Amino acid sequence: MAKEFEPRIVAFLCNWCSYAGADLAGVSRLQMPATFRVIRVMCSSRVDPMFVVNAFLGGADGVIIAGCLPGDCHYLKGNYYARRRFAVLNKTFESLGLEPERLRLSWVSASDGPRYAEVVKEFTEEIRKLGPSPARREVFI
Ligand code: FES
Repeated sequence: MAKEFEPRIVAFLCNWCSYAGADLAGVSRLQMPATFRVIRVMCSSRVDPMFVVNAFLGGADGVIIAGCLPGDCHYLKGNYYARRRFAVLNKTFESLGLEPERLRLSWVSASDGPRYAEVVKEFTEEIRKLGPSPARREVFI
């Protein structure tokens, strides 16, 4: 029997909000798929676009960047910078014929474990529908 495709998603989570939200979801024992490979960064603005490209080249099927809610960044404007950078990255993916749907930017507060679990479920389902990343298929198989 063929094994069901299980997405590999690299999740860059800001230390102060999203990572804490993920932690809360974990300690609250909320059910969610084990598809996220979490990388903790101090702020969503720390995510260099090359981190995202490298994640795909390394076999990721999707990449998510999550940070504090707008206005709540612990470095004041970091998530605004992340949002701008993400918009450019999205356009770049689109113009290169890559699938921008494999990228996601999300805001999760430290006190919102259920929101984190919801993001994990939703994004996992979206990536599951898209199937394995073409980069993964071409580079690794
Ligand atoms: S510290 Fe969380 S987005 Fe900047």
